[in-house]
This record gives sequence, C-alpha cells and structure tokens, in this order.
Amino acid sequence: MASSKTVCWEPTGLPYDVPPKWKKSKKSSGPHSGGEGEVTKICLNANEKMTAVIKVYTYDTRTRKMRAYREITALKTLKDLTNVSHLYSADTNIVTNVPDNLSDTLKDNYATFWAIMTNIEGVTLKEFVTKRYKHPQGFSLLDALTLTEKLLYIVKTIHAMGVVHRDLKPDNIMITYQNYGDPIEKAEIFVIDFGLAYIKTQENIDIDWSEYDRTDDVVTELGDSLGNRWYRVPQLDKHDIIKMTAKEKNDLFHVIRRSSTIDASSICAIFFWMLTQIVPQTNRDKDTNLAPHQRESANIKKKIDQTISNITGLSNAESQMLAKRLQLYLMTTFDKGFEFADRQWTIEQLNYRLQLIRNTLESLKTASSLLETLEDVSDALIKLGDTASSAVPSPYEIRSPLDKAASAFVFAKTRFIENHQRGYKWTDGGCQWSDDVNHMVERKHYDTLTYYLLNQNWSIIVCFTANVNETGQSVFLSIGSIVHGLYIGIPIGEYATNSNSLDKSDIYTNFERELKNLIHLICKRKASTR
Ligand SMILES: Nc1ncnc2c1ncn2[C@@H]1O[C@H](COP(=O)(O)OP(=O)(O)OP(=O)(O)O)[C@@H](O)[C@H]1O
Ligand SMILES: [Mg+2]
Repeated sequence: MASSKTVCWEPTGLPYDVPPKWKKSKKSSGPHSGGEGEVTKICLNANEKMTAVIKVYTYDTRTRKMRAYREITALKTLKDLTNVSHLYSADTNIVTNVPDNLSDTLKDNYATFWAIMTNIEGVTLKEFVTKRYKHPQGFSLLDALTLTEKLLYIVKTIHAMGVVHRDLKPDNIMITYQNYGDPIEKAEIFVIDFGLAYIKTQENIDIDWSEYDRTDDVVTELGDSLGNRWYRVPQLDKHDIIKMTAKEKNDLFHVIRRSSTIDASSICAIFFWMLTQIVPQTNRDKDTNLAPHQRESANIKKKIDQTISNITGLSNAESQMLAKRLQLYLMTTFDKGFEFADRQWTIEQLNYRLQLIRNTLESLKTASSLLETLEDVSDALIKLGDTASSAVPSPYEIRSPLDKAASAFVFAKTRFIENHQRGYKWTDGGCQWSDDVNHMVERKHYDTLTYYLLNQNWSIIVCFTANVNETGQSVFLSIGSIVHGLYIGIPIGEYATNSNSLDKSDIYTNFERELKNLIHLICKRKASTR
C-alpha cells in the first residue's frame, strides 16, 4: 500500500505529530491494513501495559479525508455506546489530528490523519468464525444465529444514535472471547471502522451531506470500496445517474444510500457467510443470476440437518417437518436479504425473523411437546390489552415531513374521539408508519375505528397514507379502507412541510369530512354487495 506523500514518520514509526509518549508495541502483529489505512498496536513509553491502537489514514485524497472525518464524527457521536470502537479517552493529550470541522479537514495543508483508539483485545469476526470452524467445537446454526442477533442488537443501538454504518463485514466486526471452545454466548461483539458511516445528526449542522453525496467521488467511493470486496449491498450499487429522473436521484442519494436497511442487508449477508463460509460478494451472480443462498442451498440444508441430528427425542417425521420449516425460514430470510435495493429487510423486520428461527430451534431442543398452543399465545395477547402505541420521537431524529404528517394524523384521531362522545374508539390512537420500505417516500398506517351503539357496533380498518413529493416540500395525506376487496381512498389534501404549514386544525376539518365520506362510501359498497 503506497503511503501518502505528506506523511512524516518519526523514528518510532508513528506520524510526527503523535504525542511522543506513544510508541509501537512490541506485541504488535504488524499493521492491519484495510482499504483506508493501517491499524497498529501501540503502547505508552512509560508503561507498556497501557496499550491502544493507532489508525493512520494513509491516503490524502479528498475521499480518504472524508472517511477519516466521518469515522471520527461517528466515534464522537457513539462515544457512550459500548461494543463499538472508541477514541482513546484516558488521555488529556490529543488522540486524533482530524479537525473538528469539515472545511479544515479538506484543506490541503493537513498532514496525514491518524486517530488513537481503545485497543479491542480480540480478533475479527472473520478470524473467529474461520478458526471456530476448524475447532472441534465447530460452528453451528445456533452459533451463527446467536452472533447475528448480538450484532443486530448493537447495530440497532447505533441506528438509534443516528448513525448508519454502511460497511459491515466480518473484517469490520471484532469479537472478544476467552477460548475458542467457549459457548458462543460468552463472545462479545464490537463494531469498528466507521469510515463510510452516514451520520444523521450531522445533517443541517456542519456537513452538507447532500452536496457531498452529489459529488461524483462518493459514487466511486461507495462503488469502489464495496465493489469487488466482501459484499456489495444493492442499495450501494453504482447507477447511471445521467439517465435518472430528479425523483430517482433524490430517492437514491437521500433515501436509499442513507437507509438503515443497508446495515440490515449486510447483517443478513454476514449470517449467510457464517452458515456457509462463502463470501457472497454480490446479490446476483453475473452468469447464472442466482443469489448466493440459491447457489448454496445444499450447504444450508446440511447445516440444518446437523443441528437436528443433535437433538434427541424427535421422531423421523418430526425431524423432517422441522427441517423443512427451518429451510423455509432461512431461505426466505436470504431471499429478502439478497433482494433488490427497495425490498430489503429493515432491522426490526430482520430481528423478528431471527426470533422466529430461534423459537423454532428452541422448540426443537426441548422437543415439540413444550410448544405453546395457539390459545396460550392468544391469552398472552389478551393480557397485553390494546396498547395505543404513540411514536416516541428519538432525540436524534430530525423531524422529517413524514414525522410531521404522523403527528398531524394523531392530532386528528384524538380530536375525532373528543368531538364524538357517543362512542367511537381507535384501536391504536397513535400513528406509526408501517415498517415497509417498498416505497421510499410513501408511508402507511392502519388503525381500526369502532363505533358502539348500545349492544351493537361496527369496525372498519382505516388506512392513513402520507406521500412526500419529489422535493420534500409538500406532503399529500389521504385515508382509505378496503371493502369487499376494493380499496376506497379519499384525499385529505396537500400540505407544505416547512414551518407550521402542516396546520393541524385545518387537517382536522378535512379529516373529519373525509372520514364521514369514507364511511358513507363503505356503507354504499356494503349495501351493493349484499
Ligand atoms: N480498536 C481496535 N482494536 C484492535 N484492533 C483493531 C481496532 N480497530 C481496528 N483493528 C484491526 O485493524 C483492522 C483494520 O481496521 P479498520 O477496519 O478500522 O480499517 P481499514 O480496514 O483500514 O478501513 P476500511 O475497511 O474502511 O478500508 C481491523 O480489521 C482489525 O483487525
Ligand atoms: Mg476495515
């Protein structure tokens, strides 16, 4: 790897502006070099037991500088999270020479960037899984599932802080553990390398991400960095931008390339790799057009059979049925994981899918006799009651046009109940958009409206829809319902999304009128199909 022309090295082997109290650690296994720099173990001159790592961002192109800047910004944002890499904090000296703001970062006169980070005493996920496969303990489906769940949990927390990693792969995940033979539950996962991260909280503050993403080099950057390596998620595929409409470009730069589904897709690919040890690379093979799991279905089946053969007390028929179910669950998990960009798992959806697989595996372990009956589960649901879940906005979220539309709908729903004391009820008074990414700028929410009249009542499911226009400057609201297979939709109106123009009382008047119209049409439809 060529070093930057501006780098100045001390005889210690560290860049000249690193505080002199640091030196390379003798235990250093040599620099780990990835795409953007070199990571070397260092220690204090005064106390060799005090170790850290230094990441030197060897290239000094704009793109590389941006990566350094993004990584440092992400690490500062995530400083309170465990299980991610951290800037070395037990230190009053500087721990990085990456400037605090973007314009200084991009100036020419800066030397090679570096950052000192806490040493994670472990190995990469790549090394861990590879070694574990060779160990007598082996690496089972349950092991893969457990590590995937742990990873997903950490990534979910990272997302909640407004950061999307965008480069998750076995080299960028570290594992700490005692012995290779230990149960997998004991292994801890750390997410590292935030050089490609998208940081939501930086929007409107000091980085104009939209401008940055518009420049050509990010296209090359994301394409290059993920292109021929471990796995390129379809959301980061290269596009022929010249042929795209304004709306398509807007979706690509502002939604798809920043989507947290990117990390969900990578987690799915990592899960696949842990089961098969096959590097997925892309979601479709150039020649056969097959997805990685379709090429490896026999391997996946073998893994399932191994798992089932370790369970005692199952009849042949039971084993076969459970193998079939697991096969179906896993293959459809990867069907979606290796889908097109706009049909990917969200983190939450993937989380539930992993739970389904775990529940199935655990029911296997204990044999089917302990499976809960449908009535058991239904009883549990009754006990939970109708919880009107109101979306609690994350302090890191910027209020998007869709957030504003949601709160306008919540307002209208609440006001409707207040104004009609005779007996209406929503099952879910809130408005949480369905976690469906098929439409990048359209979201739906469903709620049941019930009307009570003495001993009688009727219920309808109302679908609330918000559509944001191309520029994000207005949102179109509508309501609707499906009656005997026909969707009846009614527009409420188009509202500007800036300042207070999504005026709630105006929406309410229209909402009530259109709800009445909707019920009237439902009534007609029902009468006509009797
Ligand atoms: N905090 C850390 N503690 C211990 N080892 C680390 C740490 N950070 C990185 N490493 C090691 O260094 C390797 C490279 O680090 P990192 O992924 O951050 O940089 P990179 O690969 O050069 O960047 P990129 O993958 O974006 O090109 C890792 O795979 C890991 O082996
Ligand atoms: Mg890396």
